[in-house]
Amino acid sequence: MPDNPSRYTLPPHPVLKGYYDDEGGRKKRVKQLFNSTASHYDWINSVMSFGTGERYRLEALERAGLKSGDAVLDIGCGTGVLARHEMDVVGENGFVLGVDPSEGMLQQAVARGVSRVAMGRGEKLPLQNERFDFLSMGYALRHVADLSEAFSEYFRVLKPGGTVLLLEIAPPKSRLGYHLIKLYMKHIIPLITRIGTRDKNAQVLMSYYWDTVEQCVPPHLILEALESVGFEKVERKVLFGIFGEYTAKRPAPTKP
Ligand SMILES: C[S@@+](CC[C@H](N)C(=O)[O-])C[C@H]1O[C@@H](n2cnc3c(N)ncnc32)[C@H](O)[C@@H]1O
Repeated sequence: MPDNPSRYTLPPHPVLKGYYDDEGGRKKRVKQLFNSTASHYDWINSVMSFGTGERYRLEALERAGLKSGDAVLDIGCGTGVLARHEMDVVGENGFVLGVDPSEGMLQQAVARGVSRVAMGRGEKLPLQNERFDFLSMGYALRHVADLSEAFSEYFRVLKPGGTVLLLEIAPPKSRLGYHLIKLYMKHIIPLITRIGTRDKNAQVLMSYYWDTVEQCVPPHLILEALESVGFEKVERKVLFGIFGEYTAKRPAPTKP
């Protein structure tokens, strides 16, 4: 853990000049991309994952220990895929709040049945301390400005003993796997997206998706950033060589 956590910064990836010029430009561009493509997102997600994306997210929540009655925060909730599953698991005794900076995405989440949503970013949550038992972020980690800043916020809003689950893709380690997944995500998926949606922005979004995955800091730095803000039991499970599930706990107070 660094001596002064406030001085430890970790942007998830460098500035991607083909899309924007600086941090201010990144925020604006990412918001514009997600806003303008929100109505296509579920279709793209389903095609890209061969229809398995929804089920996979539910299983990941179960593996991370989400339970009935939990108070849940889903950050970067997008169209509410994770949040909707979370509502089913926590039931009437719990609640789920979905947060996202894109109003287009939040509208889709509400249409899906996510009843509590708020506009916000992972790096600066408009929420009080120690409010949630479980916090999730699905495939949105690459879009925050700074991982340490965002993780400090996650620590702050979780109750002691609370769990964080981050779903994120990382390129496979094998050369062949890497080239195959790059061909699929960088070229095939943006092309299918363009044909299926007839929307240039949706094609750019999917191209950007791969570029941020490829340029993202390695998983061990994400694990270290979680530890650096105070999380314990920090782990990463990997499925099929690319699907990462990061879990961590806010330490519970020790009994006297
Ligand atoms: C790829 S979508 C993921 C949606 C959903 N979580 C899922 O599992 O499908 C990424 C989402 O992150 C949101 N996002 C962008 N910047 C963000 C930030 N700084 N903090 C939180 N969410 C952000 C986008 O608006 C978008 O809805």
